[in-house]
Amino acid sequence: MRKIRIKKSTFIIMILIVFAFGVIWKASLLAFDVARAENLYINQCANCHRKDGSGVKRVYPPLKNADYVRDGNKIELLRGMLFGRSGRIVVNGYTYNGVMTTEIDNSLSDEDIALILNYVFIKLNNITDRIVTEKDVKEARKQGKLPPHK
Ligand code: HEC
Repeated sequence: MRKIRIKKSTFIIMILIVFAFGVIWKASLLAFDVARAENLYINQCANCHRKDGSGVKRVYPPLKNADYVRDGNKIELLRGMLFGRSGRIVVNGYTYNGVMTTEIDNSLSDEDIALILNYVFIKLNNITDRIVTEKDVKEARKQGKLPPHK
């Protein structure tokens, strides 16, 4: 059998191409439509969580630099956004025991809902390694409403 030989330089170029594609792919995920995302966030979430995501102490928890968001699981966060959430939670050291009703506009696409959480992760928390996709929103819909926190 004939051995396929690859020149060392060809091999290096191949590695570089794969690497470049990786960088472009990551950048394309991060280069999301910020203006659209911000608009959606302001319409859907800012009434309570404030425009800058700082919340209202003891009433509406912050979404900006929030340990709850940082440590949270994206499917769980999406379930709260889609179906509402309630019960006692602690965010950045303050206790909240409110009810977040299902405020999110039902006519939004899964893509837009993913975009809102990407906005919260990337713009409000500087988390760039947890991209939310439409598939995640579908999974959250499947899992349904969160049980109240005790
Ligand atoms: C009507 C007011 C209201 C609106 C609108 C609202 N929330 Fe909330 N949100 C709350 C309240 C109240 C809680 C705390 C619930 C509890 O005590 O269990 C909360 C909790 C949360 C939490 C978990 C706690 C935290 O700070 O991380 C997340 C995440 C969240 N909201 C995201 C959103 C997003 C994203 C939107 C927009 C799609 C949104 N909320 C819209 C009132 C609201």
